[in-house]
Amino acid sequence: MVRERWASKLGFMLAAMGSAVGLGNIWRFSYVAGENGGGAFLLLYLGFVFIIGIPVLLAEFSIGRQGQGDVVGSYQNLAPNKPWFLAGFVGVGSAFLILGFYSVVAGWSLFYFWNYINGTFWSIPESGYEATFGALIANNYTPLLWHGLFMVLTIIVVLTGVKKGIELANKIFMPMLAILLIILAVYSVTLDGAMEGLAFLFKPDWSILTDPSVYLAALGQAFFSLSIGMGAMMTYGSYLSKEESLPSATIGIGIMDSVFAIVAGIAIFPAVFAFGISPSSGPSLVFITLPGIFAEMPFGNIVGIIFFLLLVIASLSSSISMLEVPVAYFMRKFNWSRKFTSVFVGSIMFVLGVCVSLGMGVWSGVTPIGDKNILDSMDFVASNIFLPLGGLAIALFVGWHWKKEEAFAASDMKDNLLGNVWLGLVKYVAPIFIIVIFLQSSGLLEWIMP
Ligand code: PFF
Repeated sequence: MVRERWASKLGFMLAAMGSAVGLGNIWRFSYVAGENGGGAFLLLYLGFVFIIGIPVLLAEFSIGRQGQGDVVGSYQNLAPNKPWFLAGFVGVGSAFLILGFYSVVAGWSLFYFWNYINGTFWSIPESGYEATFGALIANNYTPLLWHGLFMVLTIIVVLTGVKKGIELANKIFMPMLAILLIILAVYSVTLDGAMEGLAFLFKPDWSILTDPSVYLAALGQAFFSLSIGMGAMMTYGSYLSKEESLPSATIGIGIMDSVFAIVAGIAIFPAVFAFGISPSSGPSLVFITLPGIFAEMPFGNIVGIIFFLLLVIASLSSSISMLEVPVAYFMRKFNWSRKFTSVFVGSIMFVLGVCVSLGMGVWSGVTPIGDKNILDSMDFVASNIFLPLGGLAIALFVGWHWKKEEAFAASDMKDNLLGNVWLGLVKYVAPIFIIVIFLQSSGLLEWIMP
């Protein structure tokens, strides 16, 4: 079977950026930062992006381009008969878990888009946005419809092959989303009480750093937001031939993705405090805050339509990169057609999403992990454990399995200061951090070193 290729260098760059920028920057960043104390979390997250995330992203691209395979196949091509490919299965597993709930949340966004088009959200509902949203997600049917619609859209893009369509869409809509977020941020800081929100986001309360779970949350958010550890970026890298310079693409993606999150934070938190919403409202945070902004700002109804449309498109360019991971693997493994594989895998994810959605309503008593509902449990396992584990394997592979020259050649790095700093981060810093954070948050570190 002939493997696909990007139509152009720009096509790869846009698709990879499209994968990184999505619900993670807006929905997940806001609520996880809100739950973990704000400023100190932001700094920890940014620190992890730069010392672990960006170096691992370059390593993941390098394995993909060099291995020319899906997340399992790339390892097998590069290290035949060695157990490295097992890490690929962790990636396939996280794709199912993450897209399972991602599509549900994207479905909520799609539903909001619809409510701004038909006018339902133009005026504040009698019970307020918070109760309205609560009622929506607890409903047994409506969210499933929108989740299904989003999954169908994702499947359609993936079954036509990765090259077509996404590149153009990202080129136009991503800058639009950036501009709109900046406008929202500017508006949000003019609200009464905005300063409290800015202080929450930018004035670190260091005391939170004594809590090990904050480190795990920041690590998981860095991996989730940069799309690393699952093999999405590896698979995208495998559709690349040798011309693209990987380091500049990687740094561009890393910086842009972080800026998106910070600007989203400036748009959300001042409004959260101005409206008296609790920053630790969890996954509902942006869905109850944003409509409040749109209700107050000039032309808010139109802004609402455009915003949720752009958010859905950004989510789509992320969800297709996730679906691509198992699709590329199953297509090769079982010699299935792209069409059949996309529909098959997408349908399984749809069913997982149905469980997630019901978990906000009739199944809200189902708590697979601790007191976490189905969404939170799947997110926790996938984002905070599987993705960092996948990243750990990537770092160890590039840092320890490859010889120095191989690592430099595969990544377009040179044996100079920058190259060695990168390799040092991948070989030592990233693995040590990931392992220590795992040990610490599981309580094992205390047990080893009381
Ligand atoms: N990075 C995406 C976002 O921020 O929305 C989500 C994501 C895509 C996570 C692809 C992981 C992945 F492999």
